[in-house]
Amino acid sequence: MHAEHREQWGTRAGFLLAAIGSAVGLGNIWRFPYIAYENGGGAFLVPYLAALLTAGIPLLIMEYSLGHKYRSTPPTAFLRLSRPAQAIGWWQVAICFVIAAYYAVIIAWSFVYTGFSVNKAWGDDPETFLFSDFLQASDAPTMDLSYVGGILVPLIVVWLITLGVLAAGVRRGIERANKIFIPLLLVMFLALVIRAVTLPGATEGLNAFFTPDWSSITDGSVWVAAYGQIFFSLSIGFGIMITYSSYLRRRSDLSGSAMVAGLANSSFELLAGIGVFATIGFMAANAGVPVGELATSGIGLAFVAFPQIISNMPAGELFGVLFFGSLAIAGLTSLISIVQVLVGSVADRTGLRRIPAVLIVGGATALVSIILFPTTGGVYLLDVVDRFINQYGIVVAALVSVIVVAWLLRQLKPLGDHANETSAIKLGLLWRVTLGVVTPVVLGVMLWDSLRTELAENYEGYPDSFLLGAGWCVALGALVLGVVLSLVPWKRGQQVTEEEVQR
Ligand code: ALA
Repeated sequence: MHAEHREQWGTRAGFLLAAIGSAVGLGNIWRFPYIAYENGGGAFLVPYLAALLTAGIPLLIMEYSLGHKYRSTPPTAFLRLSRPAQAIGWWQVAICFVIAAYYAVIIAWSFVYTGFSVNKAWGDDPETFLFSDFLQASDAPTMDLSYVGGILVPLIVVWLITLGVLAAGVRRGIERANKIFIPLLLVMFLALVIRAVTLPGATEGLNAFFTPDWSSITDGSVWVAAYGQIFFSLSIGFGIMITYSSYLRRRSDLSGSAMVAGLANSSFELLAGIGVFATIGFMAANAGVPVGELATSGIGLAFVAFPQIISNMPAGELFGVLFFGSLAIAGLTSLISIVQVLVGSVADRTGLRRIPAVLIVGGATALVSIILFPTTGGVYLLDVVDRFINQYGIVVAALVSVIVVAWLLRQLKPLGDHANETSAIKLGLLWRVTLGVVTPVVLGVMLWDSLRTELAENYEGYPDSFLLGAGWCVALGALVLGVVLSLVPWKRGQQVTEEEVQR
């Protein structure tokens, strides 16, 4: 796609809805509550807010400016800064590929659980139901490809919807889908949270969530988890916001849009935490057990605790449909954005038109997702891949992109000036210092600390070989793939002449 034919968002509101739709996803409803809980509960909010203000929003603005200035998806946008920097763009594309592959599966689970809610199909023991009946998870992590039909079919449907929306294009597909889904999500989710906080026992849950475990605050891995959560949740560090802003019109308010999207996302996230923990409080009061006992199931929090609660509350069916329906819709609008990075980046570099790009690139991602995840070992794979691609994919890619843009290429000032030309909130020294100094220092130190813990103790006690294959190899593989793709001499597609490359 050449610049002159580049697709565009129809309206600013359309872009904002799509940006919020991308940000608000499984990260907010499924991931945030259990990550916050595992990392010190209320005390997690300190690194979380620090990460949002010192890294999240400043980086969001940087990505908006980069995509908008060069009207390109990540590989081409970084290429315009400098030839070797193109590898960062492709690295982000590779990270999106990994995330899309497992992300779609959780959306598929959510769709199925929306249906399950109607007749409480999980019976009396949702945990056994989830792991044994529904996921048919093997006892230990394996790479055995035995398929589970109940996940395979909905997963295929999720992919068909996603690729269908992308094939319709930025304005007619993505923007339109978000205009329908985001208001729907908001109404459903508000109804859910209002119901949750009015349940008996809700206060206990909220106390558990907000009561800080201060000892966790000195732990580097807690900080990395907070940065990882902010990046994942805001859709930054893996190219989505560069991609979405590349379809903006020339005169677009960049920093204002970043503020709106960033604050909307974190508000939604806190709301989700409140909703989830209020509900868990109700359940704990009902069962006469401490909240902590119910909230420790990590990845299964949403799919174990919620079914239990739904079975125990009046009109639980409706509550279940609202919860799992919200999860599915929020996930879908994010998956669309993740896959658009892949489709748009390949289209920009190769000159492929939209539909063939969707079929080839989106189709290949769907295929990998369908081959690897709806299997009996899929849930373990998902857990490890999610952990490693976040901590050692997104967070490291974000760190590298900031160091390269701010220090090696000294592009923060020109990018800030670019945003200032069309934005209401002006970026100055504060923005450059937080992004160029605070973010890399904090991230660097924390990553180092987290890496030491990682090497000293196996994540979730999984065997070395599994962590090596599904964790380290995937995270490093994304980086290697990025470098390799940056060395391919792409001949067609968006032309970038030597003069246009800044360095
Ligand atoms: N930003 C998306 C989420 O939070 C990826 O799920």
